[in-house]
Amino acid sequence: MANARQPDNRPVIEVCLTPALWYQFDPKEKNVVVIDIIRATSTIAAALHYGVQKMIPVETVEEANTYLKKGYIVAGERDGYKIPHFHHGNSPFEFMDDDVKGKAVIHTTTNGTRCVLMSKGAKNIVAGSFVNQEAIINWIRQENRDTILFCAGWKEHYVMDDALFAGTVVRELADHFRIIDDAALSAKLLYRYVRENMLRTVKQATHFKRLQRLGIENDIKFCMSNPQFDVVPIFDGEGFVRLEEEITSVRLNTDVLKGNQ
Ligand code: MLT
Repeated sequence: MANARQPDNRPVIEVCLTPALWYQFDPKEKNVVVIDIIRATSTIAAALHYGVQKMIPVETVEEANTYLKKGYIVAGERDGYKIPHFHHGNSPFEFMDDDVKGKAVIHTTTNGTRCVLMSKGAKNIVAGSFVNQEAIINWIRQENRDTILFCAGWKEHYVMDDALFAGTVVRELADHFRIIDDAALSAKLLYRYVRENMLRTVKQATHFKRLQRLGIENDIKFCMSNPQFDVVPIFDGEGFVRLEEEITSVRLNTDVLKGNQ
């Protein structure tokens, strides 16, 4: 009898290499992993790991200002620089202290938080980074659903550190998911090519040089490191909470978050 080929029912893993290409993707019924390695999604993962209750992405500084006036903790950057009158910038180290533990933080960044808002309509939105790489990969595998890895890049441009993380994920999941586009394949090959020297490679990248000028080398080293925080930051419709807290998460203006005011 002819050796009939089994249909390949594995879910698909795709990579969107920059927000400029997002129009080509349809997130409906799919999971989206937003990736902004330096630094937004690394910061979100670190913040939740160290006890921030919720990281709430907002698109504009103006919107963040309205929360600031209401007494909320507000954090963010533009072009990498902390917004002067905000409580915090976008360094992961700023979210490890007691002043933000158990609190909601309003978070606006140049690229990463915008991509979260662009992903609305997806089945689930999570924040992926090297610092929570294993938790994210395990979650994607368990979900077993079509997945888009959405690289935030820099002002619509491709950046290598985001693509490298996407490649790491594609590589780890290559047996469980189908690759249907060259973006995912290229990311996987990039990872394979530079995996022994990730930091050294990223140091050559334009994004690294751009942010290095701000004196945030420790942040970059942290974002490229692998502490393996066991946290899956999942978007509950308002902000990122830890996966296990998604069901019981509360919205702004409820009692728990009044602690911010
Ligand atoms: C962004 O969202 O563009 C970044 O995370 C940039 C930064 O950290 O400064």
